Amino acid sequence: MSRLVDDLLLLARSDAGVQSMRFEPLDLNEAARLAAARWIPQLHLAAVELSNFTCKQEAIIYADRSSIERLLDILLENACKYSPHGGRIELSTSADAGSVVRSVSDSGIGIPPEQQEKIFERFYRVNPANDGSSQAQGSGLELALARQITEVHRAQIEVQSEPGKGSSFFVQFERLIREPASPNANSQLITRDAMRVVNQPEV
Ligand SMILES: Nc1ncnc2c1ncn2[C@@H]1O[C@H](COP(=O)(O)OP(=O)(O)O)[C@@H](O)[C@H]1O
Ligand SMILES: [Mg+2]
Repeated sequence: MSRLVDDLLLLARSDAGVQSMRFEPLDLNEAARLAAARWIPQLHLAAVELSNFTCKQEAIIYADRSSIERLLDILLENACKYSPHGGRIELSTSADAGSVVRSVSDSGIGIPPEQQEKIFERFYRVNPANDGSSQAQGSGLELALARQITEVHRAQIEVQSEPGKGSSFFVQFERLIREPASPNANSQLITRDAMRVVNQPEV
């Protein structure tokens, strides 16, 4: 319940233009590592395997830290909540000359094409009665908040999803530190923080 009140308050403050934010340079690779670490216990319970890919380039954006933490938590929570027991979640950060993209992909229940835009509306839930997951309780407010957070950061959020296969959410930010474009600079994923939380032997 307190989460619902928090979400409503944040949205109302944003509507009224009175939310307090402190913008500073923020390393999205680091923020993502911390977000992933916060979710380890929950993922462990759901036997969901999480992989976190970070990029070689500095992924610095100009952002309010607590809003970005909230945004990453919303996407991670949904990835976990709408995935079957034993699913997989993949996080990645990539950067090119002008932008940084953060993605959260899951192997969960997916979202029908005609509803993919609607999930960002306040209170919209694809299937409020039964989402196919025992944990799928919710307010339908969080992705509205996620979109609002991306808007104040002049970022874009979008979803690609296939029912029964999974969903990927992408958030594209303007990159604060720009480097000259180089042919190999695009989306080089060099680090894999494999956070295995399933009870299976390492392969
Ligand atoms: N990763 C996901 N996989 C499948 N469906 C999702 C995912 N994320 C969000 N959804 C759908 O979008 C709806 C809105 O999400 P959200 O605003 O976080 O609300 P809530 O999770 O409280 O229902 C969810 O009810 C669900 O139907
Ligand atoms: Mg949610």
